[in-house]
Amino acid sequence: MSDTPVYLSYPCLKGREIDYVTECLKSEWVSTSGAYVTRFEQAIADYVGAPGAVACVNGTAALHICLLLAGVKAGDEVLVPTLTFIAAVNAVRYVNAEPVFMDCDDYLNLDVAKVEQFLAEECGPAAQGVIHKRTGRPIRAVIAVHVFGSLCELDRLMAVAERHRLVVIEDATEALGSRMRRGAWAGRHAGMVGDFGCYSFNGNKIITCGGGGMIVARSAQALARAKYLTTQAKDDPLHYVHHEVGYNYRLTALQAAMGLAQLEQLPGFIQRKRAQYLEYKARLAAIPGLRLLDVPDYGESNHWLHSLVIEEARYGLGRDLLRQKFAAARIETRPIWTLNHTQRPYRHNRAYRIEKAPFYFDRVLNIPSSAGLTDEEFERVMEVLRRR
Ligand SMILES: Cc1ncc(COP(=O)(O)O)c(C=O)c1O
Repeated sequence: MSDTPVYLSYPCLKGREIDYVTECLKSEWVSTSGAYVTRFEQAIADYVGAPGAVACVNGTAALHICLLLAGVKAGDEVLVPTLTFIAAVNAVRYVNAEPVFMDCDDYLNLDVAKVEQFLAEECGPAAQGVIHKRTGRPIRAVIAVHVFGSLCELDRLMAVAERHRLVVIEDATEALGSRMRRGAWAGRHAGMVGDFGCYSFNGNKIITCGGGGMIVARSAQALARAKYLTTQAKDDPLHYVHHEVGYNYRLTALQAAMGLAQLEQLPGFIQRKRAQYLEYKARLAAIPGLRLLDVPDYGESNHWLHSLVIEEARYGLGRDLLRQKFAAARIETRPIWTLNHTQRPYRHNRAYRIEKAPFYFDRVLNIPSSAGLTDEEFERVMEVLRRR
């Protein structure tokens, strides 16, 4: 077998990327006002069934704008999962608000039952919504992250949020193409259930522009405001009059051209990743102490990243030693993120009954999941897992 590197999640650029980027270059409209930006926005909006979409430089900027759209202000609090990439948590600080950390469920997503418990035990009603009794601060919003493409329990979260008048922001950066299968939101795409949603087109995501992001919402008015904020809040384009502080967050046409070509391939990518998921799951069933993390049956995942759960006592190796074995075989794998409530900028923030997240942090390893993963690469991964 070959010993060329096998990567965790690399881009698959086998569509019309070169054609569209070349066309964009030839047009000389390469910057943020190029037609490819609006074409890409419209294509994403059509795909997820949104009234529009607003392209951003990256998913983190998109999250920042979503918090502004949600009306989160300095001194407010926002409920966030401890188990996620830190971008959503940092975005809360960008608006001078404070994160309150929540635990995960068995799919690694926000534990909505614990969100309910937290609101019942530590919060009380206020004129504008809900107050955290420990700090006296209003809780304005909750950020639901669809971890590795697996859908958060949105039905239940939306009901809780409505009861407590919380704005729901979906961090669907990893979940473009995932959709609800059951319940009140059946058929809805990740990002299109809450008040605001965002996607990322970072190099490791299911589709990529090299870097990029997108905001979606059900309200056309909110989308117009997102466009205004991401384009420097320009109130008069001739004399450059600005009534608010804006941001230079718009995606360029060159990136959008690549994104459009990637989006055309998304259904095929999801199909391949779903097939990988089923194959990994079936093959891992024969190895005691290993299993593939399930996805919830109320949703259809895009299966962006596959997660191995390792039971060290039965398998004979723990997460770190297994990762080293993969590295020796030139196969990239990755543990999940250090929990955010333990990160230095956030150690003093409230973290409510964090119990499952440390359990999964110790046991989960993400394994090669690229849409372009070959059969030979897949066999190399399985070979390392069998040879313990
Ligand atoms: C869960 C999550 N949130 C936010 C982001 C931020 O997206 P970006 O890298 O495009 O800023 C990422 C990915 O990088 C992510 O995985």
